[in-house]
Amino acid sequence: MTTPISVARQGGFEDDSLFARIATDIEIKGFSINPAALPHELGDSLSAYAHQLHAAKFERAGIGRADDFFKNSFVRSDEICWITGESLTGQAWLTWCLRLQRFLNRRLFLGLFSFESHFAHYKPGDFYKRHFDAFRGEANRVLSVVVYLNPAWGPDDGGELVLYSEDSDTQGVKVTPLQGTVVVFLSEEFPHEVLPAHRDRYSIAGWYRVNTSHATKVDPPR
Ligand code: OGA
Ligand code: MN
Repeated sequence: MTTPISVARQGGFEDDSLFARIATDIEIKGFSINPAALPHELGDSLSAYAHQLHAAKFERAGIGRADDFFKNSFVRSDEICWITGESLTGQAWLTWCLRLQRFLNRRLFLGLFSFESHFAHYKPGDFYKRHFDAFRGEANRVLSVVVYLNPAWGPDDGGELVLYSEDSDTQGVKVTPLQGTVVVFLSEEFPHEVLPAHRDRYSIAGWYRVNTSHATKVDPPR
């Protein structure tokens, strides 16, 4: 049996310096933006996978289990596909995220317990208005991770992620959704939005959660 290279090479030393940079950024400012940081092989494989994923595998994204369709479509118009690990590419991604999780738990004592993630496809005109990934006190999503899967992205292509500081509506850091960029931020502290994309835009968004299970309620994975 042959082991796919993309899986066999997981665990490289390059990642440790990236993970260390992410940990330091999170500790100091709560967010971390890293262009050209995702291991190339993993990024290429995820990008190819997302681009060939049949449109039927994507579903309209929601903003909460109980929210209605019209409210959803006002806030976001992208389509998503959860990553379950049924493909080797998905497995390689989940393995990489687990290594990041372990690294951050060792360095920052975050107690990250589970991880969930999905591909997202924004068609021309699609957006995701300003939102939080988690609400204070709900202690569910602790850390958000976003990676981009677009080999080329020009200044007129729109679709930037804007990461705001909590108390500012206007001051934000703009991130170009270019292949290989890895963004990590504290889910409860940074409202953010995706500006309307002018061409097809592929990304992965993922969240680490702490375990909020107790005797009478088992925390679902998503
Ligand atoms: C999200 C999100 C950002 C992006 O899916 O919650 O904020 O740049 N995505 O795709
Ligand atoms: Mn978000």
